[in-house]
Amino acid sequence: MPSADHVILRELLAREPEFTSGAELADKLGITRVSVWQHMEKLRAQGFEFEAARSRGYRISRRPDKLHVALIEVHLKGRARRCPITLLDEVDSTNDEAARQLASGREAPFVVLARKQTKGRGRLGRAWHSEANGNLYASFAFRPTLPPGGMATFTLWMGVNVCELISNFAQVDPGIKWPNDILFHGRKAGGMLTEARVDADQIRDLVFGLGLNVNGATASWPGELSRRAVSLAEEAKGTLDINRFAAALIGRVWLSYEKFVAGEHTETFADMWQRFDVLRGQPIAVLQGNKRIAGTAAGIDNDGSLLIRPESGRIQRFHAGDVTLEKRP
Ligand code: BTN
Repeated sequence: MPSADHVILRELLAREPEFTSGAELADKLGITRVSVWQHMEKLRAQGFEFEAARSRGYRISRRPDKLHVALIEVHLKGRARRCPITLLDEVDSTNDEAARQLASGREAPFVVLARKQTKGRGRLGRAWHSEANGNLYASFAFRPTLPPGGMATFTLWMGVNVCELISNFAQVDPGIKWPNDILFHGRKAGGMLTEARVDADQIRDLVFGLGLNVNGATASWPGELSRRAVSLAEEAKGTLDINRFAAALIGRVWLSYEKFVAGEHTETFADMWQRFDVLRGQPIAVLQGNKRIAGTAAGIDNDGSLLIRPESGRIQRFHAGDVTLEKRP
């Protein structure tokens, strides 16, 4: 059942740039015009501004630049409209919150979004910079009926889909660095962290976490990050509508998940990986504990392992590891 805020925003957005009368909104909601006005006051406090014209009604003159759940919902399309969204102002980690909700029996799929994380986590226990300035911290919770081995390429598949979405949405050219980094010209704009809980030979549940620097101003970020990070807005040279983007992302992740569990991803995965892979043909090194293997990146194999062609010897496969791009000799 959509909330009153949802209905008001849906109606106003549907008629843009025309005005929508208060009486019409009251009719739709089955409430008085005074109640409509009270809901609009609440929306004002959340960052909306409305232009009111005598005998014509209202239209939106400003939208919040923060994540706003009703605004995301009105932009959702197709089956993703059924995706329940939890939006938190602040949380330790959206991945941890999604895992807690799964553990307490919440029906999946659902998505947890936060405006800020206090303990955002990345791969290999690293911290994920999660300040409250226009970035996206999202965790999608699923209960796939697949054996654990069936998930080997899941993060990679999600990664290329997120890249394609970013490319279409912001008219920019992202790349993916195996296994989970989204980059522009060597600078990191996003990272993915998939965490599954497994019972015997069956996945119990799975959380796909995505951190994306959407509208952040990375130049002011601490230390090394200011040189290593970039945001979509910086690359696109303009602020993005984060709520519209969040809705498009939810739609894309939902669809990509459905394709994956149906085994349909195999039709396009290899081509998409080739399109976004920033490592292929580049000199790289993989670090695995104390071991360092250098060579030329040669794509991935069917189970998502990274392939490296050392200067001498046979191609080697890496299931895990930390990859660095090396300077050409
Ligand atoms: C990485 O680059 O190593 C992965 C970073 C993943 C960060 C996201 S932000 C949303 C979700 N919550 C977390 O704590 N981590 C992921």
